[in-house]
Amino acid sequence: ALGAGGLALFIALLCVNAFAMGMAPPSNMEMIDPAQVTQTPPFDNPGLKKVGENEYDAYMTAFAFGFAPGKMEVPLGATVNFHVTSPDVVHGFQIPGTNVNFMVMPGHINSASYTFDKPGEYLILCNEYCGAGHQVMATTITVK
Ligand code: CUA
Repeated sequence: ALGAGGLALFIALLCVNAFAMGMAPPSNMEMIDPAQVTQTPPFDNPGLKKVGENEYDAYMTAFAFGFAPGKMEVPLGATVNFHVTSPDVVHGFQIPGTNVNFMVMPGHINSASYTFDKPGEYLILCNEYCGAGHQVMATTITVK
């Protein structure tokens, strides 16, 4: 009875979270209707915006099967605040060799910051299986 009761409680909490609370993971910005992502500023014009001395906001979309903008370039030592969302399905956002690694949920904006202290070309890849083109979903950010 305890086991069955615990299971029922767990399923009830899951249902409240999913249906009543909209299954919303943490987001530091307002959620966007996924169908409107590509028409909603700033994601209608993805790219780098300078916000301080060698600090940038990178507004990006992850979609099947690529990232917008494509290749980016920042100066050495730049701190980049990545803000990423998806107009379609769940993707991943990882820059190998850094601590930037998060899921990209449709309509949710997930963020991470990184200071690029070493020059070079950094790979940005999708690490969440998202469909037939998942393995080609990548771009780069060049630091020089
Ligand atoms: Cu996008 Cu895998």
